Amino acid sequence: MRIITDLDEMRRYSSERRKQGRTIGLVPTMGYLHEGHLELMRRGRRECDDLVISIFVNPTQFGPSEDFASYPRDFERDSGLAESVGVDLIFAPTADQIYPPGFQTYVTVTEVTKDLEGVSRPGHFRGVATVVLKLFLIVAPHYAYFGEKDYQQLMAIKRMTQDLFVDVKVVGCPTVREDDGLAMSSRNVYLSPEGRLAARCLSRALGAAQEMAAKGEKDAGVLIREARALIEKEPLAVIDYLTIRDPQTLEEVQFLQDTARMLMVVKIENTRLLDNGPLQRKEAAR
Ligand code: PAJ
Repeated sequence: MRIITDLDEMRRYSSERRKQGRTIGLVPTMGYLHEGHLELMRRGRRECDDLVISIFVNPTQFGPSEDFASYPRDFERDSGLAESVGVDLIFAPTADQIYPPGFQTYVTVTEVTKDLEGVSRPGHFRGVATVVLKLFLIVAPHYAYFGEKDYQQLMAIKRMTQDLFVDVKVVGCPTVREDDGLAMSSRNVYLSPEGRLAARCLSRALGAAQEMAAKGEKDAGVLIREARALIEKEPLAVIDYLTIRDPQTLEEVQFLQDTARMLMVVKIENTRLLDNGPLQRKEAAR
């Protein structure tokens, strides 16, 4: 497995591989890898000739009072895990290379980012869209893999590539969960043992709403009340938002059509935990 930190070297690698007719897959990450990341890599490994991952804790997507400085980092461990799933190359640039002095160009996806995380974390998606486009331009992958765990991010990146005619196929992959249902996240390490137990309420609430929707409940208000009640039973949990949206536009939905998406953020001990999943009648299930 190779490790490249230099932009030009990365470009050369990709252009040589492309000339040989090989397909390149990219899994962008901020490191501190867990099973969720590794599943994206396994998928990329199966579908592409050369599998590149990026590890870059992107400063522009963190707000001034967020955890950029303390975001967990462990490159040694990450490279061992990447190698174990067959990654060919880790691209790990420095912040100065990605944002050289004088840098002043950003990518903004307007509609799909205006609400939800866009409200709770102003500027976040501008940072994400900007760095992802930069990574796409440097690595020049054919396929790029993203988790549904960050559903709004996935929708924003799909929109950005479509709107800017970026020749990369964006592939969304299902959320990987711990045995008790908690969606895996690098930030789960911030939870105390009590917080970790309390965090089960997110997937429980989502599961309850999914079950009601499968049985035919179409009223978003009813589904939201049920899910909220389950979370509110947990004293450590504070709901930031819990909502049902159109799966593409992320506009609010009152009554479920074919499919809708429940999205929630719940704060436990000051850590914002995200979860989301599809709501659909049983007959409509894939
Ligand atoms: P990061 O949080 O490291 O996540 C990297 C990728 O792993 C994202 O596509 C994310 O959705 C996916 N992922 C995280 N947890 C997952 C889980 N439990 N199941 C499935 N996929 C999961 O998301 C980012 O980094 C950054 O915003 C990035 C896209 C790299 C831009 O900086």
